[in-house]
Amino acid sequence: MASNNVVFTCLWSLAVIGCAARSSCSIKNDDSVHDKKQLSGNGDLQSKQVPPKLGFRPWPKIQNKASSKDTLAESKSFEGSSPFIDMQYHMGPVLSPRIQVYITWYGNWKAEDQAIIKDFLLSISSPSDLPSVQKWWSTVTLYTDQTGRNITGSVNIAGEHLDQYSHGDSLTRLSVQEVLRSALTESNGTLPINSHGGLYLILTAEDVVMQDFCRAVCGFHYFTFPSIVGYTLPYAWIGDSGKQCPEVCAYPFAIPAYMGATKPMKAPNGNIGVDGMISVIGHELAEISSNPLINAWYAGQDPTAPTEIADLCEGMYGSGAGGSYPGSVQTDGSGSSFNANGINNRKYLVQWVWDPNLNACSGPNAVN
Ligand SMILES: *[C@@H]1O[C@H](CO)[C@@H](O)[C@H](O)[C@H]1NC(C)=O
Ligand SMILES: *[C@@H]1O[C@H](CO)[C@@H](O)[C@H](O)[C@H]1NC(C)=O
Repeated sequence: MASNNVVFTCLWSLAVIGCAARSSCSIKNDDSVHDKKQLSGNGDLQSKQVPPKLGFRPWPKIQNKASSKDTLAESKSFEGSSPFIDMQYHMGPVLSPRIQVYITWYGNWKAEDQAIIKDFLLSISSPSDLPSVQKWWSTVTLYTDQTGRNITGSVNIAGEHLDQYSHGDSLTRLSVQEVLRSALTESNGTLPINSHGGLYLILTAEDVVMQDFCRAVCGFHYFTFPSIVGYTLPYAWIGDSGKQCPEVCAYPFAIPAYMGATKPMKAPNGNIGVDGMISVIGHELAEISSNPLINAWYAGQDPTAPTEIADLCEGMYGSGAGGSYPGSVQTDGSGSSFNANGINNRKYLVQWVWDPNLNACSGPNAVN
């Protein structure tokens, strides 16, 4: 294992679409990366604090290494439980109050595309036929804070703000906070400041470029800095990758050329970019709820590169998932793939998340 450690760490940080603090590939030496803590005391693997699982997403970096059998082989399924994942609670808050989502639609958005996303968010707390989005979220509500309160099962859309490119069509990790500041506090700001369950989503249209988009991130979450926004509020950005890199951020609705024979799945709402966003939105919501201030639930000892509850299961949509195989999912009458039903007869494909009780990835369509 030792000779793989550097490559491993590098890919690990790239694999984090929900990366809280860092997204770029950084190579550290073993001493700074691996904690000395012995999880169970026998063998080399247990002494590594970096979790041995890579969620799968076909980042461009992987392409360069696609010929190296080691790289893809490292993407093992963690559908089976793993004693090597040490998902820990670090005493910070989780989103236990009712979640009030405030959406900033950045750029040109079509109402029909907004409806796909809004129906997904509203499906989290509405019953639908199984397997459902609500059932998918029930894995997230298994996480609690130090007072024993669970993450809420109640998610509401509490406000929307339209932003026609106030900061141009190319954003950075910092300028996205300025977009949020405009939405909250400037003269035409339309969103309230809500630090009791407020969750701010900035969703960018397919022509908007974001720093590291497609190369290392499809979405990210963090909290706003008082120095920029005036408040500490949890937020997430997710971009529509339909025009820029569907084969990365909307995988498996689009497939990179180097993956040759693999056939793309048909997107359940007929929009590759937006259907691809759904799973990334789900990923970010799960992580922001369990780690809103980056001091609650994550694995690994390095809070600047936390491995959060959705990171471990990225690319897993059904039983048997592993590596580039998304797992077994249903298809509807038109051949579209999905693993969760939502309101208004919607169907969605949303990645699984880490179940703290099973110590494994789980989802609404898990075969027990
Ligand atoms: C709250 O979390 C505990 C611990 O994971 C779990 O047993 C319980 O079922 C959860 N409650 C809800 C409503 O999810
Ligand atoms: C605020 O909105 C109004 C109309 O909605 C517009 O005329 C005005 O220019 C806007 N002001 C700013 C600062 O964006």
